[in-house]
Amino acid sequence: MKRAPLRLAAVPLALLALATCHPTPGPNAYDWVIGVSMANLTEQWRINMRDEIMSEAGHHRDLRIVFTDAADSSSRQIQDVRNLLDSGIDLLIISPNDSEALSPVIAEAYRRIPVILLDRSVIGFDYTLFIGPDNRLVGKQAGQYVSELLGARGGKVLEILGRSGSPPVLDRSVGFREAISPHPRVRIVDTLVADWLRDKAEDEVAAWLQRNGPVDVVFAQNDSMADGAHRAAEKLGIHGMKVVGIDGLPGPSGGIELVRDSALSATFICPTGGKEAIIYAVDILHHEEGIPKKMILRTSLVTKETIESGALDAPARPRLPPDHRIVLGFAQTGAESNWRVANTDSIKTAARQAGIDLLFVDSEGQPDKQIAAVRSFIQRRVDAIAFSPIVESGWEPVLREAKAAGIPVFLSDRTVDVKDESLWTSFMGSDFLEEGRRAGRWLVSYLKTDRPVNVVELLGTLGSAPELDRTSGFKEVLRDHPNYHIIVSQSGDFVRSKGREVMQEILGQLSARGQRMDVLFAHNDDMAIGAIQAMEAAGIRPGKDVTIVSVDGIRDAFTAMIAGKLNCSVECSPLLGPQLMKAIKDYMSGKDLPVRIITSEGVFPAQVARAVLPGRKY
Ligand code: AHR
Repeated sequence: MKRAPLRLAAVPLALLALATCHPTPGPNAYDWVIGVSMANLTEQWRINMRDEIMSEAGHHRDLRIVFTDAADSSSRQIQDVRNLLDSGIDLLIISPNDSEALSPVIAEAYRRIPVILLDRSVIGFDYTLFIGPDNRLVGKQAGQYVSELLGARGGKVLEILGRSGSPPVLDRSVGFREAISPHPRVRIVDTLVADWLRDKAEDEVAAWLQRNGPVDVVFAQNDSMADGAHRAAEKLGIHGMKVVGIDGLPGPSGGIELVRDSALSATFICPTGGKEAIIYAVDILHHEEGIPKKMILRTSLVTKETIESGALDAPARPRLPPDHRIVLGFAQTGAESNWRVANTDSIKTAARQAGIDLLFVDSEGQPDKQIAAVRSFIQRRVDAIAFSPIVESGWEPVLREAKAAGIPVFLSDRTVDVKDESLWTSFMGSDFLEEGRRAGRWLVSYLKTDRPVNVVELLGTLGSAPELDRTSGFKEVLRDHPNYHIIVSQSGDFVRSKGREVMQEILGQLSARGQRMDVLFAHNDDMAIGAIQAMEAAGIRPGKDVTIVSVDGIRDAFTAMIAGKLNCSVECSPLLGPQLMKAIKDYMSGKDLPVRIITSEGVFPAQVARAVLPGRKY
C-alpha cells in the first residue's frame, strides 16, 4: 500500500531538502517518509551523518527522507519539528541542537510517531530509541591517552571546547577530567571555546600561544578544532606540541588522515550513527519486536600505530560455511532469582529458535566456577562465548585468552570491569544506574515529604554490576533530598530466602537501636518478597508501615503489589535471549555491532499492577 502524498507545503522551502537516493518512479512510490531534523549542516561530522543516512536509505526503495537544517538555532529546530509533523512524516530522526530546549517538542512528536534521537539525548524518556556515542567515555579515553602520552613527568594541557551548551561538550570535558584526575602532574592550564570550528580554533589558539607560550598537549573536542590548533602552532613555528582530537572521520581532511599526516597525535572515532538510524527506523516502521531503548556506538583510538597495524579494521571474522551451526558457550550466574530463571529460559529458547547449539553452564553463584566455564569454552573452541558476570572484576586474563583464540565474547545483562574494552564485543542488557535513579525518583515523588525518612537498602551480590550501579543511581537522586537517610545497607545476594534472613537481622538491629524503618529499597523483587515475609512475621505491615520499592518487575512482585504489600517495582527485563542470538548471528555474518544495546524498560507503581499483570511474560 502506497502512502498519501506528503503535505510538503507545511515545510518551508528554505528549511527543506527532499532526498531520495534512487530514481523516483512516481510521486507516491514510497511507503514511508522519514523526517530528519539536523541541528546544523555545517560541521563535517554532521555532513557525514547526513551522507550515511542518505546512503543507507538508498537501499530502501520504499523510503523517502526529508531533511531540515536548524543552523544551530533551537527555536528554528522546534519549528522544523512542528513543520515535519504537520507534513505527515511517519518517523522522526532528530539530532537536537540543545537537549533541554528540544525536549518538549520531541515529547510532543513521540506522542504521535516514533522518534529516534541521534547523538544527543533529551531530558526524560519520551523517545523510541537513542543512538549515539557515550561522550563521557570518549572524553575519558582521551584523558587516559593524554595521561599516558605525558607519562610520569606530566605536562600542560590546553583544552578546546565545542559550542557552549551543546551536550557532548560537558560530557567529554567531565570524562577527560575524570581520567586525568589520578595524574596530578597532568594539568589543564586553560580552556578555550571554539564552537567546533577549525578557523575559530586556529585564531583562538594562536592568540593564546602568543600570550602564554607553548603547552605540551592540546586536547580539542573535535578534529576540526584540533586541526586548527595544529595550524596555529605551525604558523607560530612551535614544534613538538601534541594535538589530540575526537571524531576520526574517514576521507581527505578527516581525522584519520590528519593522524596519518602527523598533524594530530591521536583521535577517537566517534561514529555518527546515521546508518544505524535508518536500519532501526525500518525495523520500527515494520513493528519489529525487541527494539532497544539505547544503542551506544563503539569509539576507538586512532594513532599512527593503530592505523599501520591494521587494528582499526574490524576484527577478522571466522569464515563459516553456509551450513555451519554456530556453537555458543554461555556461562550463567546461577539461579538466584525468578528473574534469572526467566533469563535462562529466554537464552535457551532463543538459541533453539535461532538454530544455535548452546553449551550452558550454571556457575551457581561462584565467580571461580564461572571463569573456569569460560576457559572450558575456549578449550572446546566454541564459535562465540556469552556470559552474565557474577561480579565485575577478575575477568582480564580469561578474556585475553578468548581474544587470543579469536573467539568473540558477548556480555549479557551485566558488564565486566576491564581496562581494555576490546576484550569483549558487545553488551546487551539494562541500564542499572538508571534503574537505581528510577527507584529513587519514584520514592521521592510518592512520599512527597520534607520530614526525615529512614531508608534500608537490601543490596544484590556485592561487586556485581547491578549492585554497584543501582546503589549509585539511587544515592544520586537522594543526594538532592537530604531528609532521606540510608541507615542500613546489607546484601541479600539477590536471593529471596536471604532477603528474609537479612531483614530479620536488620529488624533486630533496628529495634536494639530504637530506630524506625520508613522505606525499603531492595535491589530485586525476590529479596523484597523475602523481606516482606520477615516484616509480616514481626508484625509490620509491608507497603503501609514501610514503603517498599524494588527492581525487576517479576510476576510475584505484581501479585505482592495487588495485595498492597509492595509499592513499586522498577522493570529490568530478563528476556535478552533473542537480542543476544541476533547479535551473535549478525556478528558472524560480518555486521558491525554497537558496543552497548540497552533494553527498553518501565516503572510499575502498585496502582497499575492489576492491569499490567496479565501481560507480564516473567
Ligand atoms: O543482573 C540482573 C539482576 O540479577 C536481577 O535484577 C536480579 O534479580 C538477578 O539475579
